[in-house]
Amino acid sequence: MTQALIVEKCAAPVGAEIKGVDLSQDTAPDTFAKIEAAFNEHSVIVFRDQSISPDQQLAFSDKFGALEINAFNKYALPDHPGVLMVSNIRENGADIGFADAGSHWHSDMSYTAHPPRCTILFAVEVPTRDGAPSDDTLGDTLFASTATAYDALPGDMKTRLSGLKAVHRFAAKERGVKGPLKLTQAQIDKHPDVRHPVVRTHPETGRKCLYVREGECVSIDGMDDADAEALIKQLSDLCVEERFIYRHKWRVGDVLMWDNCAVQHIALRDYEWPQRRMMHRTTVGGAVPV
Ligand code: SIN
Repeated sequence: MTQALIVEKCAAPVGAEIKGVDLSQDTAPDTFAKIEAAFNEHSVIVFRDQSISPDQQLAFSDKFGALEINAFNKYALPDHPGVLMVSNIRENGADIGFADAGSHWHSDMSYTAHPPRCTILFAVEVPTRDGAPSDDTLGDTLFASTATAYDALPGDMKTRLSGLKAVHRFAAKERGVKGPLKLTQAQIDKHPDVRHPVVRTHPETGRKCLYVREGECVSIDGMDDADAEALIKQLSDLCVEERFIYRHKWRVGDVLMWDNCAVQHIALRDYEWPQRRMMHRTTVGGAVPV
């Protein structure tokens, strides 16, 4: 179905709201082309007041590329292995979803050879300060523009970074807001270290983006560990300066998607069970970073 959409850019360097689209309907090719163009331009797009089933979310996600199954797929919806529950909700004393997903700055699955193009979250439940429905929501997600951060680097630093490759490690130390996640040996063995350029070129826009993150990257080829650690930290700190950030305050019914080359993100854990947060997450495969 063709839909007349409006794109409203946010004040931050990334982020735009798209109005006039009902994602429970199949989007016609011309409508989808506009959505994809807005996504490439703004890196984070949000559709408010949506009501979509897991199948509708999968169908929309699939238009952006092949769906991926997350390493933590034990938290997938029972009948939908492609939809991960990102949630702190507990049943019978255990988390029903991946409660700590995104609780440190990162770009999704940078520890894989083909990191995802985009990630899509549908907000099913959003925590509020007193637990009752209200606008005083918690659990915001912050997105930092890696392209704008790269643009802000001085010329000599851009030259220094050219050609460098960083090692991304699945089992890197900072995962999990309450300490390192317990990973099984099988999960670790399935994800050997990968090397990606510190500066990658966006496959759609051609913009250069910083693709390095403290806690995910453990070294840089050809550099001694202390120098590499200092450089990784310097670039990580730069990326998340206030001036590069869009902060999303969730509402139930939001469908938000982000570009894992053009932004890094963090989900704030400023709520605790029995405050409830439930996001349905789908992930779309991407290209080898170059
Ligand atoms: C994630 O990094 O996938 C989770 C983001 C969020 O829950 O806001």
